[in-house]
Amino acid sequence: MDNTTTRPEQAEIRLAEYKPPVFLVDTVELDFDIRDDRTRVSSRLAIRRNPESAERNAPLVLNGQGQKLVAVRVDGRELAAGDYVLTDKTLTIRAVPDEGVVAIESDNDPAANTALMGLYAAGPMLCTQCEAEGFRRITYFPDRPDVQSRYRVAIHADEDRYPVLLANGNLVENGKEAGGRHYAVWEDPFRKPCYLFALVAGRLDKVADRFLTRSGREVLLEIYTEPGRSSETGFAMAALKKAMRWDEERFGREYDLDRFMIVAVSFFNFGAMENKGLNIFNDARVLGRADTATDADIAFFERVVGHEYFHNWSGDRVTCRDWFQITLKEGLTVFREQEFVGDMNSPAQERLRTVSVLRRVQFPEDAGAMAHPIRPASYQAVENFYTATVYSKGAEVIRMIQTLVGREGFRKGLDLYFERHDGHSATCEDFVRAMADANAIDLGQFMRWYAQAGTPVLDVTSRYDADSRAYTLEVEQRCPATPGQDTKEPFHMPLRLGLLDARGGDMKGDMVLKLRRPRETFVIEDVPEKPIPSLLRDFSAPVRLNYDYTDAELLVILAHDSDGFNRWDAGQKLFAKYALSGEALPDAFVTALRTVLMDKDLEAGTKAMTLTLPGEEELGLALIARGERIDPVAVCEKRRRVIKALAGALSGELWATYREIAAGLDEEASDGVARGQRSLKNLCLAYLHRAEPGKVAPVAARVVSGARNMTDKIACLDILVDGDAALAARALAEFAETFAGQPSIMDKWLGVQAAERHAGVLEKVRRLMAHKAFSLNNPNRVAALVGVFAGNPFGFHAEDGSGYRFVADVVERLDRLNPQAAARYAKPFLRWRDFDAGRQALMQEALRKLAALESLSINVREVVTKALG
Ligand code: ARG
Ligand code: ZN
Repeated sequence: MDNTTTRPEQAEIRLAEYKPPVFLVDTVELDFDIRDDRTRVSSRLAIRRNPESAERNAPLVLNGQGQKLVAVRVDGRELAAGDYVLTDKTLTIRAVPDEGVVAIESDNDPAANTALMGLYAAGPMLCTQCEAEGFRRITYFPDRPDVQSRYRVAIHADEDRYPVLLANGNLVENGKEAGGRHYAVWEDPFRKPCYLFALVAGRLDKVADRFLTRSGREVLLEIYTEPGRSSETGFAMAALKKAMRWDEERFGREYDLDRFMIVAVSFFNFGAMENKGLNIFNDARVLGRADTATDADIAFFERVVGHEYFHNWSGDRVTCRDWFQITLKEGLTVFREQEFVGDMNSPAQERLRTVSVLRRVQFPEDAGAMAHPIRPASYQAVENFYTATVYSKGAEVIRMIQTLVGREGFRKGLDLYFERHDGHSATCEDFVRAMADANAIDLGQFMRWYAQAGTPVLDVTSRYDADSRAYTLEVEQRCPATPGQDTKEPFHMPLRLGLLDARGGDMKGDMVLKLRRPRETFVIEDVPEKPIPSLLRDFSAPVRLNYDYTDAELLVILAHDSDGFNRWDAGQKLFAKYALSGEALPDAFVTALRTVLMDKDLEAGTKAMTLTLPGEEELGLALIARGERIDPVAVCEKRRRVIKALAGALSGELWATYREIAAGLDEEASDGVARGQRSLKNLCLAYLHRAEPGKVAPVAARVVSGARNMTDKIACLDILVDGDAALAARALAEFAETFAGQPSIMDKWLGVQAAERHAGVLEKVRRLMAHKAFSLNNPNRVAALVGVFAGNPFGFHAEDGSGYRFVADVVERLDRLNPQAAARYAKPFLRWRDFDAGRQALMQEALRKLAALESLSINVREVVTKALG
């Protein structure tokens, strides 16, 4: 495959240079002839000049790469080689009519496609991935989302090897062919951009069910898996039905085809893909039972099944005009997914989870060398912009609109957006305009969220005047410079807050201040006593907020605030303070945490979240905010010290909680409540292990060999690997023997070892790369081993630079197979400026070595040059 380009450097593609397509394609007929050594793709494209294009005489330029062109016909006439120009990226035909039929034949080699974009072999089956620019690897086509067409797809293959043949839409015809072959024809009645095209062929098991839409149409639901795994589809099928119902009830969105299919594949570059009527999933995001997957995996099934299903409206029915607008569909769909998961489980816990992920993953990205707004203004490789910023911060931006206009107003705006743009490609302006029009408000300034990168900072001060009972808040906003954006304009954002009395009672209820200026003063009248402000309730804007709280005030918030988010966040602030200062945990804080732990009315999952310290990444960012640099190993140790002290102080309560939950929890249950209980139980044990390793290790060893529940097994394997070397070695060996034939379970085994917070971890990871459970060709294996290692302070950030050299070396090797995956592991280097001087030098050295390579994909080259830039 032509995965690599050589220098000179790729130019930036810019949003400002968008031009409408020169040609449109009204209908597409595709014929896939699947053979052992190649797949021949024949297309018939009904093309027509776009009246909206200013380029009246421009030729027809089709994108295409990584395939062998066999023949080109225009209106039935075969073109000679001189009639068109073929490069490694495009096919240009000058002599085309304003309207006509272009027919093209080309050969794909799916078995050799290690990039996993376009048509590729995923273990025993063939499948496709087209977003963002994979369709051009299948056939020559104007591969851009503002070209929408109706598709009819015929697939021919050997019946024994590929008994199941799927594409988007409805099955309209199938039958036998000579030589043990068969065929199927699929038609999708909805126009779609080519990135939503999908095809699957293989020997697959299937589970089917039905869903009755609110208008009374029956929809066939099917989940396909590799042979032998259909018993792992239960969570996904339940989630799908819940998602379909929820989208009708919450947003009035009904499913539109007679059939909805999910296919689980074992080679996939990310989580899942919303192809019209035929979603394709990474099997790790959809398949599993309590004995084969962890609760964290299982929680993802509902989330991702919902996410991809919700795309049917926010993504498929209304799609993006161009790839700068990814957040138009992704930010909105992540928001919808979060609301769904909250409604199905606990809205408060879902919010805590969302914000902690945002802070851990998106804040660092927003402070790094490739910081970009949720709608980037330019890119080299679009695949590098499927980021936490576009997805998670994008969802926060949508949530702010809901906070500004209210839930009902948001629903009105969303209805208007779907009504105006159904069947079309839209922009972020279109979305915000629908929200503004439906609610008669001005969101002009709000659009800056789409254009400015960086995490804004709010500095808040207050004063109370007892005589006039007036409480004054001064709010200043600023936003740090990011690459290419030295100065920023102020943002329009909602600041939700409450005022607590000395015992934590709400004096005023929830208020929402609307910030617009760099510095604003708000006076709240009639406040009976000097309040403790509960600021940024529900995390109403994606910012960092500074307010000079005393510990005593934070303890009141932690114990009493009516806002669940701020209760949790008060604990996070105190944890961060004590972890970073090295001060002993004050008794009052320990007592407050004991109260949380013992609270009979609080959900176990919330208790676990409250007792969990901010992660290493967040603590590191807190150092940066104070102008210091990060020593990741030291941060890890600071965090451990707090855990150890806490576990020592709460030993009795932690053991009691552990034992009580362990005695009552059904190993087979993995609903939201059981997951919360299990997370608290295993947190107790992990904390206790810091204080009483000798007592905990044998308990953990018994769980690893005796438990049937995968979450428990992995949690305890983690504990052992973190402590007793002999017990760990035995447990790992036994685990490997039991699960040798199950790659997705062995991924956890790889991950546990790559996470070991110990200086010897690199040697172990090197050895594991040669283990039969590992393969550089499979993204899930690479994520389990290299991805986890890249987040390990003792691994990636080893003081001698060995971790940096190792990861850079993997990037180089992986780039030849799968550039998109390779670029992911180059990204941790984007933050080199945040670390201590020694590490900075070593990280730059690894980057320079990569930059000097002759042949590098655009994906990796973009990351490396921007990191050094
Ligand atoms: N649209 C997919 C989703 O639902 C993800 C596609 C990611 N594509 C990529 N090239 N990274 O989130
Ligand atoms: Zn998505």
